[in-house]
Order: sequence, then C-alpha cells, then structure tokens
Amino acid sequence: SRPVSPDVSNCTEGRMNPSGIPIYCCPPSAAGYSDYTPSASEVYTRMPAHTVSHDYIKQYSTAIAKMKNLPLTDPRNFYQQANIHCVYCDQGYAQSGFPDKKLDIHESWLFFPWHRWFLYFFERICKNLLDDDTFTLPFWQWDDPSGMQIPPMYNDSKLSLYDFFRNPKHFPPQVLDLAYDGTGLPIDPNTQMQYNCCTMYTQMITHPSTPLLFFGQPLLGGDDPDPGAGSIETLPHNSVHLWVGDPSQPNREDMGSLYSAGRDPIFWAHHGNIDRMWYIYNNVLKRKNIEDPDWLNSSFIFFNEAARPVRVTVKDSTNLAKLGYTYPDLPLSWLKCKP
Ligand code: C2O
Repeated sequence: SRPVSPDVSNCTEGRMNPSGIPIYCCPPSAAGYSDYTPSASEVYTRMPAHTVSHDYIKQYSTAIAKMKNLPLTDPRNFYQQANIHCVYCDQGYAQSGFPDKKLDIHESWLFFPWHRWFLYFFERICKNLLDDDTFTLPFWQWDDPSGMQIPPMYNDSKLSLYDFFRNPKHFPPQVLDLAYDGTGLPIDPNTQMQYNCCTMYTQMITHPSTPLLFFGQPLLGGDDPDPGAGSIETLPHNSVHLWVGDPSQPNREDMGSLYSAGRDPIFWAHHGNIDRMWYIYNNVLKRKNIEDPDWLNSSFIFFNEAARPVRVTVKDSTNLAKLGYTYPDLPLSWLKCKP
C-alpha cells in the first residue's frame, strides 16, 4: 500500500510561479508533530456569507485581524496560513519516503480532504482567538442565485476581510461566472445565473458518475504530482479563483494563483462552499466516498489552535459529526438545471 504523506522535515523552494519566479513559502517548522484524531461533543452549523448578521461580520473580522497581528513566527498568523496552502500546492515538501517526488494536493483525490482539514484548523484557530466555541466559518454560497456576487462582508475596505488584489470589474453587483476562463465578456445577469445553474448540474451530477471523477485521480506515494482534477476542482473551483483574482497583477494575485490565494480572506469562504459540495454529494445526492485504503490512509500535517503541528488522515475527514460542524440544508436550485 502506498498512502501519501508530506515530509515536513525538509521544506524547500517549490516550483516556479506562472511568471517564472521560484516560490518560497515554507511555514514555521512542523517537526515534532503528533497524531490527531478529531472528536466533538457539539455540532455547529456554518452559514452562507451573504446572510450573516452585522455582529457576526464584526466578530469574524476581529478574528482575521487577530490572525494578521500574530507574529510571523506563529503558524497561526494569517499569512503563515496562506503559506501552508502555498507549500502544499507549489511543492515545497517532498512525499515522505520519496525525496525526489514532490507533493501537490491539488489535481488529485487529495483535493477535498486536504482543504477540509485546512478549514477545520483555521476555524479552530478563530474559535480560540475569539474565545467562542460556537463560532463557525462562513461559506460563499455561489451555487445559489442569491449568492452569486462577492458577499458584502468581503467588499468593505474597512474590514480585515477585504483584499486589495481583486478584479475591480467583478465587484458587486457583478454576477459571478462559474465557468470563467479568464476571458469571457460579461453577459446579462439573468442569462449568467442560468448558465451557472447548468454548470452546477453538470459538475455535481452529470460528470462525476464515479467517485474518482468527483474527487480526482489517485495519487499514490511515489507518483508524480497532479494526476488529474475531479469535476468540482476544475469548475467552479478553479474558475472562481480566476474570477476573483486581479488581472493587473502578474499572476492574477491573490485568488488567481494557488501560491497567493490564501492571502485573500475570501479564499476561506470559497473553500467553505467547495467543502459543502462534498457534504451535498454525500448527504443529498447520496453518493459514496472513495473506499481505497491508499486514499483513506493518506495524511497531512497542519497546525492546531495551540500552534502545535498535528498529523491527520483522510479517513478522519469523512465524518462531519466528528469534526464538530455541518452545513444547513438549503434549497438547491441547480438540481432542476439539467442542461
Ligand atoms: Cu488549494 Cu482553492 O485551492
């Protein structure tokens, strides 16, 4: 058996960013990690970013401000969290046991579980800094017409949820294009919403006729990175990244390049909804996860709310009750959008 795990004892410069500059984004050392198994006595519900209260927005903005103000030596620092994302996508770590094979958790079956864990620890860091166990992350409900714009909380330049490197043409009320390829001319909002509805149906229902087509292709220990993305990773995951990023920056930073995406707080709301698509795939569409032990036994290393490195497995990411959060059961308008 060949499950994948990162070798965190050696973090190096990763691959080049799209403009040819090598990327160095190593977070603080994760040496001395311990194994972590989640357990939760309460389950809290994440909410759509465009429906939360003013008080919630203030609270979340405070949490992000606190993370931005932590010293850079602290892995819970907001920009170190962005580095953790960068290092796992731009190949700063090799695969454990295979020093000449780099690790990338994108474009493979590690995509969903890795990001689920990443948000899990980010949420726990927020709970801890706010001293509020009931706090949950918001998600950007871009699959529903009511959520197909940048949610207001991310568009207020006075809040720490704002980011300067976004496409100014895509500020509200511009309707998001879930199949954006970086070029398309905007069309009228109602047609765009209709297209988005079809994109959701295609990516959630038509394309992923097997678990691998939903999750992504197998990455086994010793394999070359990027064997192939699942349906949702391609669209709308990649397209929403590209749609938010600033085309006047060399690599469409922040959201438009994986190495810089985590610097924009909207990253976490985008991935909240990506994670919710996995929830919907299991709980509404009643489709099954991958059962291959190499997937289940693959592992990652993150930093917990006490800034300690911890190792977690894919297997422990599949049960949301154990992770202590869930998603509300909202109407899914795209279920009726068979193209
Ligand atoms: Cu790790 Cu949205 O990318």
